[in-house]
Amino acid sequence: MTTKVIDLRSDTVTLPNTEMREAMYRAEVGDDVFGEDPTVNRLESDAAVLVGKEAALFVPSGTMGNLAAVLTHTARGHAVILDSEAHIFYYEAGGSCLVGGVQLWPVSGLHSPEGLLNFKKALRPENLHFAPAKLLCLENTHNRGGGTILKPEAQNAFFEAARKSGLSVHLDGARIFHAAIALNCPVTDLTRSCDSVMFCLSKGLGAPAGSILAGSASFIQAARRYRKLLGGGMRQAGMLAAAGLIALKHIPHLSEDHRRALRLAQGLSGLPGLKVSPFPPPTNIIIINIENTGLSSPEFVSSLQSYGVKAIAFGENLVRMVTHRDISDSDIDWTLKAVEGLCTKILKQQ
Ligand SMILES: Cc1ncc(COP(=O)(O)O)c(C=O)c1O
Repeated sequence: MTTKVIDLRSDTVTLPNTEMREAMYRAEVGDDVFGEDPTVNRLESDAAVLVGKEAALFVPSGTMGNLAAVLTHTARGHAVILDSEAHIFYYEAGGSCLVGGVQLWPVSGLHSPEGLLNFKKALRPENLHFAPAKLLCLENTHNRGGGTILKPEAQNAFFEAARKSGLSVHLDGARIFHAAIALNCPVTDLTRSCDSVMFCLSKGLGAPAGSILAGSASFIQAARRYRKLLGGGMRQAGMLAAAGLIALKHIPHLSEDHRRALRLAQGLSGLPGLKVSPFPPPTNIIIINIENTGLSSPEFVSSLQSYGVKAIAFGENLVRMVTHRDISDSDIDWTLKAVEGLCTKILKQQ
């Protein structure tokens, strides 16, 4: 048993650092529902410029940002096309259906090389039997895909095809800066052509809470009303926006998380019973197939915790680890030793 804990469950587990806490303490604030919080206003205008959009909206979470986007782009009875493993479909409590009254239309392999073809096949002609598709949602990087990246050319091909069929495009860019850093391209290459983009300040970038939804001025004006409807009007939210402004400064350092993810994945791949896929990990998310250990993923995760490492069960035989700003090189060494210890013990028992 150990008291040291290395938390690789998600990049949401980061704690605000001293610089952030000081900025939060000193933040100039006002009532943001009246548009009077100068720190929120600054974050929103900086964020809009950053992703090449006219306007942006500070929201409490990525889930709310995505839902406000779906509500703004669609009306009840519309269909929304997205990947069958998309966060909006998989992990957002069915909010689009419950609150927006839309039909989520999942397409498998939307982010695979056949994705564009699959999207085109999913489009159906106008017919009174069908819910009309009004929105395509893409996810970059793709969380359940293992942090995989859609390159600008691939994204643009989707945008073009969607527009031709009268669909708007929302980009769930919770980790869009991870994609831009890994591709070594300006983030605007990935965000310019979509109608709206959501990105998270509280993943990887280290803010305690908050996401940004960005789009045209008229889109954001409409989304602002939905944020209020969803209970996301936060009054003196400048305390959180101040942390968000510091978080934006962390973007260039995401390459460190990618470097550590690669080292971790290389080490894990050499251990008995483990297979990392995709390998090498494109960004900061590592998916490990543990089928050959004979343990279920919840069993593996709970055994690993007794070695001081937290990971997350991500499917029947899959375990996910995510590197983030609170994970150091020595944490990676420790993790590899812990997993090796567990795998050796399992092997002895077989
Ligand atoms: C791709 C993606 N989109 C959206 C979200 C939702 O963000 P939040 O947890 O802030 O609601 C997440 C969270 O992990 C995510 O990975």
